[in-house]
Formats: sequence, structure tokens, C-alpha cells
Amino acid sequence: MTIKSISLFIRICFLAILISSCKSNSSPGPLLNSGKNIGPYNEPYRPQYHFSPPAHWMNDPNGMVYLDGEYHLFYQYYPDSTVWGPMHWGHAVSQDLIHWEHLPIALYPDSLGYIFSGSAVIDSLNTSGLGDNGKGPMIAMYTSHSSEKEKSGSTQFENQSIAYSNDRGRTWKKYKDNPVISNPGIRDFRDTKVIWHEGTKKWVVVFAATDHLTIYTSPDMKHWTHVSDFGKEYGNHKGVWECPDLFPVLVENSREVKWVLLQSINPGGPNGGSATQYFVGDFDGKKFTIDPAFENKVKHGNAVWVDQGKDNYAGVTWSGIPASDGRSIFLGWMSNWQYAEKVPSTTWRSANTIPRELILEKSTYGYRLKSLPIKELDSLETNTRTLPAATIDTSLLIMEHNPTARLELTFKKPRLETITIRLSNTAGEYCDIGYDPANQTYFIDRDHAGKKDFSNDFSGRQVAKIDYESSDIKFLLLLDHASVELFADRGRCVMTAIFFPSPPFDKAEIIKTNESIALIEGKISALKRIW
Ligand code: FRU
Repeated sequence: MTIKSISLFIRICFLAILISSCKSNSSPGPLLNSGKNIGPYNEPYRPQYHFSPPAHWMNDPNGMVYLDGEYHLFYQYYPDSTVWGPMHWGHAVSQDLIHWEHLPIALYPDSLGYIFSGSAVIDSLNTSGLGDNGKGPMIAMYTSHSSEKEKSGSTQFENQSIAYSNDRGRTWKKYKDNPVISNPGIRDFRDTKVIWHEGTKKWVVVFAATDHLTIYTSPDMKHWTHVSDFGKEYGNHKGVWECPDLFPVLVENSREVKWVLLQSINPGGPNGGSATQYFVGDFDGKKFTIDPAFENKVKHGNAVWVDQGKDNYAGVTWSGIPASDGRSIFLGWMSNWQYAEKVPSTTWRSANTIPRELILEKSTYGYRLKSLPIKELDSLETNTRTLPAATIDTSLLIMEHNPTARLELTFKKPRLETITIRLSNTAGEYCDIGYDPANQTYFIDRDHAGKKDFSNDFSGRQVAKIDYESSDIKFLLLLDHASVELFADRGRCVMTAIFFPSPPFDKAEIIKTNESIALIEGKISALKRIW
């Protein structure tokens, strides 16, 4: 071949590669983990200020840990498809919990199985001996899920393993003697959340065992002893318990420390499908004891929920938040197993909630876990407008041309009239968010909010019962291209719902009622995109 024909041949090959890569753009191809943000992040339904993976399937947030100015977020990830499959841990980091940089996949499936949900800690005392150069490692503890063993009929297909990193989570080694906790014969035995318990100077891991929570302790993250179980007789049991979290919190405006236990369950949620319940009590390093003042709320199958909407699941809190900060910062998966694999996004599936601060309130109504968006979100606010007090007896347009927004609206508590805030688009689609005084409920109705025929469980009205009195009704709404999060009454009642309108909702109005309603004050800001 002459030089000319070689060069022609190379050009033809190059063209062929280009054409085939263009074609594969319509369906997700292999993920390019360049370490930088990938893609335009402007596909239909793409969240603009919520975390979503660059491409392919994501479910639970995992291994959230803070180290040296970086918040790590790992997540259940299947890089070959937009539906669930052999699980990996995807990885991203942030300096402010708002802007994210995608990093290469951290953990790949191995001979013990898929890498299911778990957590990460900084072993700063190097109790594990897995550190390097006198520094303790970052250790991830996760569930190894063997689909082969599962298929063979064994019940022991879920075991707990560890992996460690000595370079700020950039590269990982699996521990050579995995698993570190072997399955005693319990079918659903997974989702490890590890904490360091200062009182007993031991590691404590909590994880789900079908219908209860199981607790083990260890001096070194490698050798574990079963110490107690919790929950068979408390809370909701209409599904499998998954993804627990256990952490201490200072009760708001007091010096009292209580322990909060989060416990996801699927199905069994208050509006169907997946949701996360919680318990308040004490923990001595071995045993979680429910607080007598909380016990009556979770007896006889009753449950209290972190979020009463349909789309907040498997949420847990960050480890290693510096004491000077002291917040319990929570992140959930913004979907529901009823339809997560069917939602109409194209090259990726799922997003996370906005990170939330969890606050434990004690009042005449007992202990209550409140959630509010983290204050770092304020940095995205722009074009802020305030609304003056007004008596509303006809529909009132409060926002236009604003598809990513934060709306804060305070009303005098109405006697009879339902307050409805309608988010809508130019296609005539809408989502109603409101407060119904007759039933003492907040609601989100996504029956007319765009695509819904992918699942019978998707449309309709979700309701959240409230069990407290307040003189005003306070909505804090976060609107993104495919979700709304409601933090009502200063975080006391929370609902999260995804939707698929086309184009995105960019307008908000307060809907006309028979009797007038009183707006006390309002504040509306656009939120800048993060990608
Ligand atoms: C919860 C869950 C976990 C499991 C993971 C698998 O959504 O089912 O229990 O570890 O997802 O992806």
C-alpha cells in the first residue's frame, strides 16, 4: 500500500468509528469516566441542581463520607444499562454538597458478588492496620450479593465485606479476607452503616436482616461480633427492611443527645412502595432502646416517616462531618421501586434529593425529625423577589419563566379552604401542591403532570397527614425539571415527588378558592444550574 492509500484507509476507519459512535448516542454506550463532568446535562427531564449520574442506572446513595474538604458520594450504579443490574459503586465528590465532580467507578463486582449498599468511614486511628504512611485509610463496608448463590437456592447469598483506599477514595483495594461478616442463614441480610462509637471505642455496624435491624461491633473493622437486634415489634413491616442508619443528634435548643435510627422499607410506604421510617431512642454502643416518649408512635404496625412523598428512599447521613459543623446531613434516592426502572428519562435513570439537614425537635407532640434543605443551597439563589402580604380571592400568578426555583410561601391557617399552589407549563400540564384543612393533610397531585402511563403506581394524589397544630401554613418548595420537594411548616412535614412534564414546569400560581385566603409573606428565587 502507498502512503496515500494508507492515509485514505485510516480516514475511512475514523469515519466509520465516528458514525457508529454517533448512532450509539441514542442509547447509552459505555460511560467515559474522564474524571470531569460529562455531557450537557440538558436532556429532557434532566435535573439541573440535583445530583444524577452522567449516564445509566443509579439507585441508593452509598458511602457518604467527608474527608479533608471533600464530601464523597458513592452510589449503587450499573454502568451497562438504564435498568438495575450487577451493582457497582459509582463515585462523585463535592466541596460544597451542591456542585459535583464525577470520578471513576470505585468498586466493581467480584467473586463474592455485586457491590450492594453500604457506608464509608475514615479510620483515623488506623485500627484496621490497612492505612499507609502512618495515616488511616478510608474504609467502605458494603454487602457482597452473590446472584449465583441466590439462584442456587441458598439463603446465604448476602455477606458483609470491606474495601479500603489510601488516596482519598481515588483507588480501592478489597480486603483479602472478605467477607468480614458471614451470613448466618438470613435471606435479606444487607446495607451496612458503620459508625465509630466513642463511648465503647469500637466500630458499630447496623444493617437490615429481613424484618429487623441487626447490630455488630468490632475493634478493627475486620473482626465482628453480633451484639443485638432491634425492631421486630416496632414500626411498619409491610415490606423488607433495607438501608438503616444510626446516629446521635443534639435535640434542638437543648443539650439532650438522642439517637435516631432510619429504616427504609420496601414496599409499605405511606403512599405506596418505598419509604423511610425512623425511630428515636438511646444507644449504649450495643443496644438501641426506643424512647418511651416515642414508643407509642411506632407500636402496632404504626410508623413515622422521614418523608411522606413517594420519591425519597434509602436515604442515610454523611459520616465524618466535623464536630465544628455538627449537622446530620441526609441524602435520599429520589425514586420508588414501584416504577424506578420505567421512568421516561433517556440515557440515565434517577437522581438524588437535595441534601437535607435533619433536626430533632422535642415538643408537646413528642420527638419529631424535621428536614430542611442544607444552607449551602442558598448559594444557587438568584433573582430573588419577595411577595407582600395579600388577601387572595382570585388566582394569583406568582412565578413565570422559571423552571428551577425555590418558593417560600406563608399563609394564615385557613378554616375551610384548601390552599393549592399549581406548577404548570405551556403544554397545559400541571402539578398541584397544597394544604387541606378539612383532612389536616398536605398533598402533591401529579395526575396531570406529564408522562405517567409507564406505571399504574405513578399518578394520583399523595397525602401527608400532620399531627401538630400551627397558626400558619408554611410551604418551602424546591422545583427542578423533574421533581418537587415540599418542606412544610419549617421541615415538620416533608414530601418528595418526581414528575415528567414536557416542557418543564416554569410557572406557579395560587389557585382561586371560594373563601379568600391570606398570604402573610412570600419569597421566590430562581436556582442556578450546577452542571
Ligand atoms: C435498596 C436496595 C438495597 C440494596 C440495593 C441494591 O434500594 O434494594 O437493599 O443493597 O438496593 O441495589
